[in-house]
Amino acid sequence: MSKETIALASDHGGFTLKKILKEELEKAGYDPLDLGCHSLESVDYPDYAEAMAQCLAEGRVSRGVLICGSGIGISIAANRHRHVRAALVHDGLTARLSREHNNANVLVLGERTTGVDVARDCLHIFLNTDFEGGRHERRVAKMS
Ligand code: RB5
Repeated sequence: MSKETIALASDHGGFTLKKILKEELEKAGYDPLDLGCHSLESVDYPDYAEAMAQCLAEGRVSRGVLICGSGIGISIAANRHRHVRAALVHDGLTARLSREHNNANVLVLGERTTGVDVARDCLHIFLNTDFEGGRHERRVAKMS
């Protein structure tokens, strides 16, 4: 069976956590696609949210991970696109609800606000939790 490709992108504020989660994805049997950034040099988070939105629109991946310092800027930028449902999560519960209720297709984390172990936990929960559908289907449909 071929490995699922999961896209990752971050600005400099999320670069270190992106590297860690990329390794975590490899360990878990996924094929990570790194859309940048590629160093700690200062860059602009909207450019990486844009790269993620494009990657999803082209159908290269169906799920992705975005990271910046707080997770706030990059999630605001990503959610300007109707096909993106980017959820800024802070723990296992918000990661689970982002899938069950919101059918989030992008997990967003803040490197400065979320510890590495919690971030790893969020990643696994995000990838392994199904959308509940039902009453949530109508609400999610209203956004796209
Ligand atoms: C970059 O300094 C920082 O502003 C960015 O990573 C993020 O936290 C923005 O919301």
